[in-house]
Amino acid sequence: MLRLLLVCSCKRIRQFSYTIFSNPKFNIFLQALEDGLKRADADPSVKAVMICGENGKFSAGADIQGFSSPKRQGIALGPLVSLIERSEKPVVAAIEGIALGGGLEVALGCHFRVAHVQARMGLPEVTIGLLPGAEGTQRLPRLIGVPAALDLITTGRHIPATEALKLGLVDEVVEENTVEAGIRLANKLIGQPLGPRRLSLKPIPRLPNMEAFLSEALVKVKKQARGCLAPELCFQAVKAATEQPFADGVRRERELFNILLTSGQAQALQYAFFAERAVQRWTTLSGASWKSASPQPIRRAAVIGLGTMGRGIVTSLVKANIPVVALEQDVEYLNTGRKAVMLLLEREAMKMGQDAQSLDFHNPARLQFTVDFDGLRDVDLVIEAVFENMALKKEIFKKLSGICKPGAFLCTNTSALNIDEIASATSHPQQVIGTHFFSPAHVMRLLEIIYGRHTSPAAIATAMQLAKAMKKVGVVVGNCFGFVGNRMMFPYVQQAVFLLEEGSRPENVDQVIEDFGFKIGPFRMSDLAGLDVGWRSRKGQGLTGASLPPGTPARQRHGRRYSPLPDLLCEQGRFGQKTGKGWYQYEKAGGRTARPDPWLHSFLSEYRDTHQIKTRFIDQEEILERCLFSLINEGFNILAEGIASGPEHLDVIYINGYGWPKHKGGPMFHASTVGLPRILAKLQKYSEAHPDVPELRPSAFLKKLVAAGNPPLKEWMSCSGSQSSKL
Ligand code: NAI
Repeated sequence: MLRLLLVCSCKRIRQFSYTIFSNPKFNIFLQALEDGLKRADADPSVKAVMICGENGKFSAGADIQGFSSPKRQGIALGPLVSLIERSEKPVVAAIEGIALGGGLEVALGCHFRVAHVQARMGLPEVTIGLLPGAEGTQRLPRLIGVPAALDLITTGRHIPATEALKLGLVDEVVEENTVEAGIRLANKLIGQPLGPRRLSLKPIPRLPNMEAFLSEALVKVKKQARGCLAPELCFQAVKAATEQPFADGVRRERELFNILLTSGQAQALQYAFFAERAVQRWTTLSGASWKSASPQPIRRAAVIGLGTMGRGIVTSLVKANIPVVALEQDVEYLNTGRKAVMLLLEREAMKMGQDAQSLDFHNPARLQFTVDFDGLRDVDLVIEAVFENMALKKEIFKKLSGICKPGAFLCTNTSALNIDEIASATSHPQQVIGTHFFSPAHVMRLLEIIYGRHTSPAAIATAMQLAKAMKKVGVVVGNCFGFVGNRMMFPYVQQAVFLLEEGSRPENVDQVIEDFGFKIGPFRMSDLAGLDVGWRSRKGQGLTGASLPPGTPARQRHGRRYSPLPDLLCEQGRFGQKTGKGWYQYEKAGGRTARPDPWLHSFLSEYRDTHQIKTRFIDQEEILERCLFSLINEGFNILAEGIASGPEHLDVIYINGYGWPKHKGGPMFHASTVGLPRILAKLQKYSEAHPDVPELRPSAFLKKLVAAGNPPLKEWMSCSGSQSSKL
């Protein structure tokens, strides 16, 4: 809601109220605001105009949903902003709460801006695949200079009023009533020349080395965007402001805006935005849901195991202001864990600056380290993060069941193990739930929340609440091996390794996947995480190692194709970055820069010779399709089984936990844009070529959707026949 106040010597003489951006009758609003401004100009008793918000909020900008509506496309806020700017009477923006997107662009059309000290401002359009299309890309650099404008427009970050004042984005910051301050300011300005305050007339502040600055900035923007178009087009719009007169710059801004609007990426990013909201409304197969379940308060939590994951989990809890007891198996491990946690927290405190005091992590009431399970008697929630070993996890849960109060929630960070089996070791299986964090746990936003057969709705609601408190996105899923994320990852990684057997190199596969937009390809990822992790798990499953029955064919397990390549690398001590060698070579153990390794290339050639595999050239299309379509195929199986209640869940998991490029909307959204018939046809083709790979066999649900005429993604679940779709 934006209001227009007409000021006549210290008094508001007329007040118009219009819902600006959330009004479906946007045209009517624009017309009314235009009329109001014209009336103000024509009325000699009106000396100044003030634009402010209502209920302590200036404006959050346009309703995102509106961007996809074709009706909106012809409507431009820009001319209205120009009209504000052209007003003969001073126009003051009084900014309280937030001024984002179109809201801030309106403020840029005003001659003066006064903001409340707690207000936040920004142009977040880039995050939904667009650019500020109401002349903001042309006015902002004229006001605060090119470097600062580029930063705000290409990242979409929100800034506090104090920073806005430093940048010159606002003229005054007040602690009192902003509207009153705005009226006072408006009165002072009556009669003053407005020319210098009209941003469209201002020259761009020159930099001595503008050209060099812009080319460097473009490289940086492109690198960070990783295939996302919006940041680069935001850059181009600001660049136009440096090269062309205002009116031409505005024309360029509109052209670029329309490119983005129709690019497909904007739809994907907006889908991702709404998907994140949709997953908050969780449901389970048995009918429990967010509507009826209440979260329980977590006054104190415990973390068991301070290894790679436990350290980050403790850090996340401390940052969420939840007192923590951290437990290790012995004093030696405890000391190592304590040091690591303290280091992480000190780094976080550095990042937080002044706010860091609130962490107070040296206070034992806030963070305590122990080797004694007795310290866990009064906690409301425990997160177990010990080695991935069922017997060990069951032993720990049995102990917890005896020590913790009956109402305490018992969470496991297992990445794949059966939640029901873990819960069976306790006397309160309804309190047991999977909380699957991603590494590094204090950084990654995803929390996969896994309910077992007995998990109570309150446990799910509490885990969701915990995710929110830690500023993470919780996604509720059912219990199966690998849950959603890792289960879908399995066929993807499997295909990547099969491609190596058939003729690719790790760097070829990674390149294709990274060009698609993933942060990191499967082999670089495997080197980073450590090949030994999967090796241990495969040994545990009897797929390799001493328990493998003699005479098992090297490339087959249970009648299916199997690649022993990762096992062979591990047998050579090639665990990835930690040993300086894996699918790549590194400068040293612990090194980060992956270089293609000639040793590995000849090892692959010998391997193919040994197993009489004919090497062939594999093009980029096949690499991409086999990796991604097999992952998507598993997604359809998961949906059909009701393990997740909708495709949005899978997409939110992949964007936030697995580096899927957000501007491609997640794997299931991507499938919907590629077209299900095409995915099905390709899977059929690859499956015929590799009949011993069941993961390539098209999912029955995918076939069903194709037979149903390739319905849009939001209608998929009504075709699934799974119980969750009927809830
Ligand atoms: P880790 O090996 O780095 O740390 C495990 C820690 O548990 C060690 O510090 C160990 O001393 C401690 N521990 C073992 N037995 C204990 C006991 N009886 N009492 C107290 N502490 C004990 O393992 P990591 O990587 O942190 O994994 C932990 C869990 O998180 C596993 O279930 C793993 O599957 C899962 N996970 C791991 C991810 C990763 O990227 N590393 C990602 C997501 C989940």
